[in-house]
Amino acid sequence: MPFKAALFDAYGTVLDVTSATRRLVAENRFPELADKADSLTSLWRSRQLHYSWLRSLMGRPTSFWQLTEDGLDFALASVGLAGDDDLRDALLALYRDISAYDDASHILPALKEAGLLCGILSNGNHKMLDDALGSAGLLPHFDKIVSAEDCAIFKPAPQIYQMGCDAFGISADEVLFFSSNGWDIAGAGSFGYRTIWVNRTNEVIEELPAKPSHIVSDLTEGLALALHLHQSA
Ligand code: LAC
Repeated sequence: MPFKAALFDAYGTVLDVTSATRRLVAENRFPELADKADSLTSLWRSRQLHYSWLRSLMGRPTSFWQLTEDGLDFALASVGLAGDDDLRDALLALYRDISAYDDASHILPALKEAGLLCGILSNGNHKMLDDALGSAGLLPHFDKIVSAEDCAIFKPAPQIYQMGCDAFGISADEVLFFSSNGWDIAGAGSFGYRTIWVNRTNEVIEELPAKPSHIVSDLTEGLALALHLHQSA
């Protein structure tokens, strides 16, 4: 069965979730941030994700932007930087137009050239995705932006992967799905997508159902693999 669409997770895969803190450290406006930046980045991301799953289980969904703010508040308090509103505002502003990975700008035109539709399938809400992908210049490359916002639950719930199929009018086995998030790869594979785990940080495979169909280290390697899979399908 030939593939019809390449769907991409956004945060961590196309967009670099570590870039907001790193850019602010480079500006040196908040010296107190420097030696806490790594812990802050990791706590911020982990709470943003945990809150998405916990709120899904609790039946209390909210926007992914709200989770981004909530995760940041937890992280700032954890590293002893709560109450610095200027720092908080600066980090959130940088997250709004968070940097894209360089390899994202190459893969999208090449996949389209090969005849694949391209889409985002993200827990991010529409506004934050449009802002970040727009400021990175990537928005025009995507045929559709599919957001969990429209389903009131977050990945890895199967309903979200179904939304990816519905948006393009295709079946799960016609999707090539790229994500750097192991838990997302497990959810997508369990749903029936062919998955390409973009293992940017050399992590170990999650002990969850559905192992990655393929593993690459970045989207440049992912492009070569996707073209090979597409041509030989
Ligand atoms: C996304 C985040 C959660 O879905 O990685 O874009």
